[in-house]
Amino acid sequence: MSTPAELARRPLGVFDSGLGGLTVVRALRKHLPFEDIVYLGDTARVPYGTKGADTVIRYAEACTAFLVARNVKAVVIACNTVSAVAPDTLRAKYTLPVLSVIEPGAAAAVAATRTGRIAVLATAGTVASGAYPRAIKALLPSAEVYARSAPLLVPLAEEGWVDGQVPELVLRSYLSDLRDTEVDTLILGCTHYPLLRRVIDSVAQDLLGMHVRVIDSAETVTLDVAKRLRAQGLLHDAGPLAPRVGSTELNVTDMPASFARVAGRFLGSDLGEVHQVDF
Ligand code: DGL
Repeated sequence: MSTPAELARRPLGVFDSGLGGLTVVRALRKHLPFEDIVYLGDTARVPYGTKGADTVIRYAEACTAFLVARNVKAVVIACNTVSAVAPDTLRAKYTLPVLSVIEPGAAAAVAATRTGRIAVLATAGTVASGAYPRAIKALLPSAEVYARSAPLLVPLAEEGWVDGQVPELVLRSYLSDLRDTEVDTLILGCTHYPLLRRVIDSVAQDLLGMHVRVIDSAETVTLDVAKRLRAQGLLHDAGPLAPRVGSTELNVTDMPASFARVAGRFLGSDLGEVHQVDF
């Protein structure tokens, strides 16, 4: 039986279908620098967003089992598609905290909106689940939610094609459909999308207006993780000695070299090896 202090020193488990969860890792490293992180990107099975809910739940169970075997103290689902369909199954199976990105993103959007008109860009799976409208309306019943799938953004992010004409044209096509909705808030309902943040901001301001607020679910889940860990006494603080920065261990189920290139660009080059794992 671990003491509370030993429990707090265990790593945080974070998983996504691929690269997108790195946007959550980056935010966690910024806001919770003393936490050790074990990351899993299921690059052998990406994308999840085009698959059926039962398949995504099965993948999510396998990812969670991998992290639990690594002795993590909590699991952060750094994937909206998994967060949309799998948390109930995972919470029924495990006693450790399982944190989703949907509710924190919905709460941030509700706090940001003035008009109650909120757009969500997400994968087909997340849109089909209705998870965002449900979470938003639970907080603001009068909200009008416009959820749209944006399937080409995930391959663009995975390819590192995050700037220039191609992502701009793709985004114009997805966001022009939202022009008449008069939304004032746009949720990036996929953890891959913040990789395209520069283009998203500029196209959203151009098509939806300068006032539009863009909500990054990777940032918002981190604040929720901090709150939940603190409430349960699981936050890893600096300890009595000189503060040590937490480690980040990266695991993928396929293509570690190409993952390492993007991860290095995105998180900085001090990451060490990307491990290939199988399950
Ligand atoms: N990162 C995933 C999400 O947040 C999308 C990528 C995928 O389709 O696997 O929904």
